[in-house]
Amino acid sequence: MFPLLTVAVMFVRNTAAMVQVFGYEGGEATVSCPYGAGYESYEKYLCRNSCGSDADVVGKTTQANTSKYSTYDDKQKHAFTATITKLQSSDAGTYKCGVSRSMWDYYPAEVKLDVLKGE
Ligand SMILES: *[C@@H]1O[C@H](CO)[C@@H](O)[C@H](O)[C@H]1NC(C)=O
Repeated sequence: MFPLLTVAVMFVRNTAAMVQVFGYEGGEATVSCPYGAGYESYEKYLCRNSCGSDADVVGKTTQANTSKYSTYDDKQKHAFTATITKLQSSDAGTYKCGVSRSMWDYYPAEVKLDVLKGE
């Protein structure tokens, strides 16, 4: 019923990728964040807005998937993938892919999610 169409356009800004993702209400959106070699064993996560606190984190590779957010780390391809399902207009906004490090985290990509109305 809902088209499960995801379009991602990437360009580079200050070395961190900026990713624009679209999804339809009721559908899902998948964002793939490539990260640098050497970070395979690090925890990856998806967080919202400024990602300033743990409350902004919506999904982590070290935690079980939820019905709304799932994460997957392809260590061969150096790409972290997060999927957001059952999209609602309130899901639209800015997200970041994060890599947990001991001092400060590394954000390989910033993601802008737009949620479009279905027909
Ligand atoms: C979460 O979902 C992704 C995508 O479906 C899957 O590849 C991954 O193995 C799942 N992770 C866990 C911890 O079950």
